Amino acid sequence: MRKTENQLLVIFGASGDLTARKLVPALYKLYKDKHLPEHFAVLGVARSFMTDEEFRKRVALESKYLDDSEEFIAAFSEKLFYEDLHKKYDVDYRELNERIQDLNTTYQCDNNIIFYLSTPPSLFEAIAKNLTAKGLNDERLGWKRLIVEKPFGYSLETAKSLNEGLHRYFKESQIYRIDHYLGKETVQNILVTRFANSIFEPLWNRDYIHHVEITNAESGGVESRGGYYDKSGALRDMFQSHLLQLVALIVMEPPLSANPEEIRNEKMKALKSLRLMTDPKVLEKNTIRGQYLASEIEGEKVKGYREEVDVDPDSTTETYAAVKFYVDNWRWADVPFYVRTAKRMPTKVTEVVIHFKSPHHQIFKNSDMNKDNKLIIRIQPDEGILVKFGVKVPGQGFAVERGNLDFYYESLGDESHIMEAYERLLLDAMQGDATLYARADEVEAAWRFTDPILDHWKKGDAKIYGYSAGVWGPQHADELIEGKSMWRNPCENLADDAGYCVIE
Ligand code: BG6
Repeated sequence: MRKTENQLLVIFGASGDLTARKLVPALYKLYKDKHLPEHFAVLGVARSFMTDEEFRKRVALESKYLDDSEEFIAAFSEKLFYEDLHKKYDVDYRELNERIQDLNTTYQCDNNIIFYLSTPPSLFEAIAKNLTAKGLNDERLGWKRLIVEKPFGYSLETAKSLNEGLHRYFKESQIYRIDHYLGKETVQNILVTRFANSIFEPLWNRDYIHHVEITNAESGGVESRGGYYDKSGALRDMFQSHLLQLVALIVMEPPLSANPEEIRNEKMKALKSLRLMTDPKVLEKNTIRGQYLASEIEGEKVKGYREEVDVDPDSTTETYAAVKFYVDNWRWADVPFYVRTAKRMPTKVTEVVIHFKSPHHQIFKNSDMNKDNKLIIRIQPDEGILVKFGVKVPGQGFAVERGNLDFYYESLGDESHIMEAYERLLLDAMQGDATLYARADEVEAAWRFTDPILDHWKKGDAKIYGYSAGVWGPQHADELIEGKSMWRNPCENLADDAGYCVIE
């Protein structure tokens, strides 16, 4: 096991939701499981006044996200501190630096510091600049790392300027761009499924795979994040980051080793090989966007997107996005990839489905089950892997029906303690392992592919379709898929009225 050195974690944006909901609970789990180093402290930094005690109460002592005895939580909370920046992040960090130095000495953090930027991206560069002005990027006495939250940019141009801005003050090796999907055990398992087995990889190419389908469905709507989401939309929020990371893991070539740079080099090559779509006709044919409408599910009224808090009542922001594309390389030539993401679907599920080709020569002519070989990688929930294949129906003749071979993580019993994504990613960054963090060039390659779709949609030529909250997206969603195939919808629509329409 790698060693976690003594360190101080400084969280910018510490009064926000992410700190209370994800970061502190992840640190608490690491504390409980004895993964934190002997000397460790957390300094929350934000723009509102709070004492250390108030901060501890808010994120730990009175938090609904931590469970255990009060004494245990109280002992953990002693590691938490708070510093008020008085209304602005872009200020002289003299006082902040004094506090950091003080905590570093008192708690023997050995000058190792992680700065976690959980603020809007527009503040990243200013924070990096102000830290640098106080020498807080200097690694002579101890390492310094910067973790940045998504969204990493709003387009290729903004992502590039963000990268350039951060590189002015921190080296790429010091920067950790978080994508919490990479922290999911099942996402990492894609690498193991592919490269630690000899039964899948020989089939993992255009000779055997008919098409690849990735679904990310959420049953929830935008909840309290309407303000952010309305400026972002499904493609920026999920596709450019989490889903293209999944695509990269499916598409990539075997790395030379499990070394972070080797893996990230292969992912980068995979993202570069996605065929860019720039022709409006191609974009029109290969993309679908939609927005959820008000509906009724089991007698309960569900709001439409335009009625959500902080959403423009005339908004044309997509809450559903589906994209068909090809990968221009030796392995994947002509294999279509279908990726969709949406809010207010009938259920919450993320899965990758590898659809295999039918056998070259059909012996059992009356059965279409031959066409049905699938490998389903269930990212969440019911984490696991499922193989669907044809089996003979007992009795005369050769009727074929579908059989399943399945593996679920929960079957591993107690040993299957699945670390939460933030727990795993924080621990990796604390240990200096960047394998599960996105590199600058990966993020830019993902934007390069996404930008033309966003531009096409922005021009307003592409229609935006309505779908009732609780159904599997717009009416013609299946038309995106070639031939007789359809999206694999793991359950039925929930809303009685599908409410399909074109939104003006
Ligand atoms: C976030 C998006 O990055 O991922 C959210 O901003 C989305 O809109 C969330 O709901 C989904 O994460 P998970 O882990 O619940 O699938």
